[in-house]
Amino acid sequence: KTLMLGKIEGRRRRGRQRMRGLGWIRSVRSQKEVLFLHVNDGSSLESLQVVADSSFDSRELAFGSSVEVQGQLVKSPSKKQNVELKAEKIEVVGNCDAKAFPFKYKERHPLEYLRQYPHLRCRTNILGSILRVRSEATAAIHSFFKPSSKIKVPEENFFNIPVFLTVSGQLHLEVMSGAFTQVFTFGPTFRAENSQSRRHLAEFYMVEAEISFLESLQDLMQVMESLFKTTAMTVLSNCPKDVELCHKFIAPGQKDRLEHMLKNNFLIISYTEAVEILKQASQNFTFTPEWGADLHTEHEKYLVKHCGDIPVFVINYPRALKPFYMRDNEDGPQHTVAAVDLLVPGVGELFGGSLREERCHFLEQRLARLGLTEAYQWYLDLRRFGSVPHGGFGMGFERYLQCILGIDNIKDVIPFPRFTHSCLL
Ligand code: 4AD
Ligand code: MG
Repeated sequence: KTLMLGKIEGRRRRGRQRMRGLGWIRSVRSQKEVLFLHVNDGSSLESLQVVADSSFDSRELAFGSSVEVQGQLVKSPSKKQNVELKAEKIEVVGNCDAKAFPFKYKERHPLEYLRQYPHLRCRTNILGSILRVRSEATAAIHSFFKPSSKIKVPEENFFNIPVFLTVSGQLHLEVMSGAFTQVFTFGPTFRAENSQSRRHLAEFYMVEAEISFLESLQDLMQVMESLFKTTAMTVLSNCPKDVELCHKFIAPGQKDRLEHMLKNNFLIISYTEAVEILKQASQNFTFTPEWGADLHTEHEKYLVKHCGDIPVFVINYPRALKPFYMRDNEDGPQHTVAAVDLLVPGVGELFGGSLREERCHFLEQRLARLGLTEAYQWYLDLRRFGSVPHGGFGMGFERYLQCILGIDNIKDVIPFPRFTHSCLL
């Protein structure tokens, strides 16, 4: 019987059990006449301890090699694990030249170093943990939205017809929200960001939701906060050890920071209030805060600190800063739209969303001013035929993982990062 090695600890079988396991050697230790191996198959952070007697050749059993082990699963005399495998057979499936292998036993390699090996780094404990958390968070997000319908993004490269990689699924979601009142999509999104920042990728995953018959930003923010918190709680309860490893080794203090975010209500301030707060502290910034200008990363970070490291919704931005589809607040000379960004500790902007302009004549005027009337007739149709107030948001999934795990660089929370001038793999 082949067992997932990460699931064995939980089994706590009383009697002996014959088993077979497949995985990679994470450590080799010899003691007197006995050899201890730790074999990991990626199903969890836990490795299976394999105990072998002197009849096994330790030179063959190198760190990084893939092996098949067979033997009796017995109660372990050590406190470190519940069970261990008394080896009867250990077969090296693929040798690993430990000298040439870029990772060394017992060494804690910095994430920057691991990034040079996109094809091998998933074999380390830390990347294993990050990617298991990524997988749990993906599942948690899908079940958060269930039973909403999923949207398929159109295919690329369609029979010589020019097609484009999408920067957002929003407009397609809006089409769907004309028939299905709650929809979401979760998939790769592309931006030609010419930026070497720690929070931008050229290909990132975005969770987007659109809700029909939604009349206030308040209702939208509730869904955003709930998505953030529910996903984090599910991840914490489904893979606590992986989260703990990230928190302990990468971001000391992050456990408390996350708890702080989860147990407090997120705050809400208007863009105008945000600019006032920033102006009071303008000596701290490279870019002078000013009403009508976009918030820079340094401003976002300051605002989050100012709010006691609790995520903060910034709402009602100047119309000129935001895309044409955002709903006009009709508030006189200031002229704002019902936009919302969620700023979070360590990352800055995590969500962007808005109420959508559902009133046909408002939208027509804006499109005309931008010279987009022709191209967006289909979008106007959505308002001509049974328009409803609606709104939605997008959450950058990699930034979410950065935020809950405390990981500094976005390139470390995605298996294959693609960014400015770089598409290594
Ligand atoms: O603020 P953005 O551009 O919003 C939209 O695309 C809307 N159409 C979403 C909607 O309302 N349906 O992007 C949403 C989020 C950002 O807040 C950020 O977290 C993330 O996507 N994001 C990026 N993440 C990584 N790399 C990039 N280059 C990103 N650009 C945006
Ligand atoms: Mg945005």
